[in-house]
Amino acid sequence: MRILMVGNGGREHALLWKLRRDAPHATFFATKPNGGMAPLCEAVEIDPGDVEALSGWAAAHRIDLTVVGPEGPLAAGIVDRFEAKGLAVFGPSRAAARIESSKAFAKELLRGAHVPTADHKTFSNQAGAVEWVRECGAPIVVKASGLAAGKGAVVCTTEEEAVAAIDSMLGDLDFGEAGREIVIEEFMEGEELSVFAVCDGRDFVLLEPAQDHKRVGEGDTGPNTGGMGAYSPVSIASAAVLAEASRTVITPTLAALAAEGAPFKGLLYAGLMNTAEGLKVVEFNCRFGDPETQVILPLMQSSLLDLMITVAEGRSLAGRTATTRPGAAVTTVVASGGYPGAYDKGHTIHVPDGLEGEDLLVFHAGTRVQNDGTLVTTGGRVCAVTAIGPTFASAADASRAAAARIDFEGAFYRSDIGWRERGRTERRES
Ligand code: AMP
Ligand code: GLY
Repeated sequence: MRILMVGNGGREHALLWKLRRDAPHATFFATKPNGGMAPLCEAVEIDPGDVEALSGWAAAHRIDLTVVGPEGPLAAGIVDRFEAKGLAVFGPSRAAARIESSKAFAKELLRGAHVPTADHKTFSNQAGAVEWVRECGAPIVVKASGLAAGKGAVVCTTEEEAVAAIDSMLGDLDFGEAGREIVIEEFMEGEELSVFAVCDGRDFVLLEPAQDHKRVGEGDTGPNTGGMGAYSPVSIASAAVLAEASRTVITPTLAALAAEGAPFKGLLYAGLMNTAEGLKVVEFNCRFGDPETQVILPLMQSSLLDLMITVAEGRSLAGRTATTRPGAAVTTVVASGGYPGAYDKGHTIHVPDGLEGEDLLVFHAGTRVQNDGTLVTTGGRVCAVTAIGPTFASAADASRAAAARIDFEGAFYRSDIGWRERGRTERRES
C-alpha cells in the first residue's frame, strides 16, 4: 500500500507515526517532510497547499490513500480534486470544510440545527459591530470568520478591547481576508474539551477526548497560539459527557451538513465548553487538532488506518469503535522565543541521545534537516514532546522534564500543561 501524507507539522508527524504502526509494510510519502518525518517517509517536494500539483503527482505515483492534515488544503478543495481523479482520500470536501473555514457558516448551521452554542451575530460593517458590542457589554468574544491559524478569536473583558478587535479585523484587515467578516458572540464560562469524531458523512467513531492549552503563558495567560500542549484522557469527559456530546452536538451537526448537500467525511473536531447549562460548541475544526493528535494517537490501540480507509472508500462506520490503551499522555510544545509573535529561524536544535523511547516521543513541527545533517528550527512551534505514563502526573512530569532537555537558542515551553487535571488528581488522592 502507498500512502501520501499532506502536511508537515507536528500533527502530521504523529499521524505518520501512527499509520506506520498500523501498516508496517506500507510505503509512505509526505509533502516537504519536517526533520522528524523525513526518516520515516519519502519526500514529495510539492507544497501541501498546491492541490493541482499534488493530485497529479498522486495519480502518477499510484497512491492508494491520501491523508490530509491541515485545514488550508481542505478549505481549498483538495478532496474534491482527488475524488474527481478517482483517488481515495481522507478528509472533508471543500463544502463540508466550511464548518471550520467560515465561522459565520458554522454558527448559522448550528443555530438551524439547535446545537447549543454561544449567541452570536455576524458583521462586515464596523459601525454595526461596535453598536452591537455597546448593546451587549463585556465580556464578549470577537472572531475573524475565516482561517487564522488558531489566532483569530479575541476574548474581550471590556467593551474597549472589543472595539479595538473590531477595528483591527474590519478596519485594518490585520487578519487579511479571514477578517473581512467577523462573528461576535457571547462569552461562555466553563472548562474546554476537544472531542474528535471520525465521520463517514452520517455515522461516526469517537476517539479519546483531549484538552489543549491555547494561551502562550503559564496559567493560560497571554495571546492565543496554535496550542502549547495537551493531555488525554480528560477526567471530566465521563461516559455521560461523551454521550451528551454525541447526541447534542456531533449527530445533529452531521445531519445538518448532510442536509446542506455537504456530508462530512473525515475528522470532525468539536471544541466544546462544559458550561453550567451543559456542553456548548466553541468551534469546529475539519481536521485533527495540533497538538492534541500528539497525545491521542500514541494512546490509540486499534487501527486508525482501517477507519480512514473505510471512510475514503465511501463505506459505513456503523458499528465500529476505537480502543485506547490504559494510562495517560501529555505533550509539551517547545517553541521559538517570540512566538506567537515574530521569532527567529535557523537555530540549531539539540535533542539528547537516548531521550526518545517507547514512552517518550518527540514529534517535530518547525524543524528541518540541513544538507550537512544539522537539525534547525523553521517555525514557531518547533516540536511537541509526548510522554506516556500510568497516571496523568507521571506523564506530565516526564513530558516537562524531556521538554527542558531540548535545546536551541530562545527555546521556551509551558511547565504547567494539564494543570486542571493535576488539581483534580491531587484532590482525589487527598
Ligand atoms: P476559537 O478560535 O473559536 O477556537 O477560539 C479560541 C479560544 O478562544 C477558545 O479555545 C476559547 O478558549 C476562547 N473562546 C472562543 N470563543 C469563546 C466564547 N464564546 N466564550 C469563551 N471563550 C471563548
Ligand atoms: N489545538 C487547536 C487546534 O488544533 O485547532
